[in-house]
Amino acid sequence: MTLPVPVVTIDGPSSSGKGTISRLVAQRIGWKLLDSGALYRLVAFGGIQRKLAPEDVAGHVEVARSMHVEFDSGGPEEKILLDGQDVTARIRTEQAGAGASRVAAWPPVRTALTDRQRSFAAAPGLVADGRDMGTVIFPDAQLKVFLTASADERAQRRHKQLIEKGSAASLAALSREIAERDLRDSTREVAPLKPAPDAQLLDSTGLSIDAVVERVLSLGRERGLW
Ligand code: DC
Repeated sequence: MTLPVPVVTIDGPSSSGKGTISRLVAQRIGWKLLDSGALYRLVAFGGIQRKLAPEDVAGHVEVARSMHVEFDSGGPEEKILLDGQDVTARIRTEQAGAGASRVAAWPPVRTALTDRQRSFAAAPGLVADGRDMGTVIFPDAQLKVFLTASADERAQRRHKQLIEKGSAASLAALSREIAERDLRDSTREVAPLKPAPDAQLLDSTGLSIDAVVERVLSLGRERGLW
């Protein structure tokens, strides 16, 4: 598959900081951004809105095919519109994340989202964030990063994020949910969470956001991408 523009993929487990790092890297180099996890979250959320049974695979495939999604990254935080409605906060909950992980394990849902994800590759280039960006969606990406952090640190980051948003959250419950989601995402049969053979492993445990962004930027510079 020849890519129309250069692509950087940033994959990794839940709460590894992929979303934040991808957004900041994309802003720094002026490239487009694909938040692929949001698409799975939207499919699960769209299923609830359309009152589908939780196990209705065909119904969720139809949501994946027909939903109208807009990413508005003009402001300080990305805004996500589903069929014209701002659903940003509603798809960011732990419950929405668990729903996304469930529908993401169904191969026909993944297939239904493949072309939509690839269509984000537009000039001058794309930073794609997810679980299978470097392995399945953009196997020919010029730079693949696999971003990790210890399970403890990920739970603590998520906890801090939720407290800042004013949500009540128990650290123990979050650790448990993150572990469950990691297990489901990395053991599913199709497109499991794993580093591409040519991915650069980047462990962000103990590193600041700025330090991780700088590391990704220097990997791209080494490859002459910017
Ligand atoms: O990155 P996130 O937490 O928003 O992703 C939500 C869920 O979607 C995640 O638990 C697994 C699934 N997902 C996926 O299977 N493939 C992707 N490329 C991105 C997300």
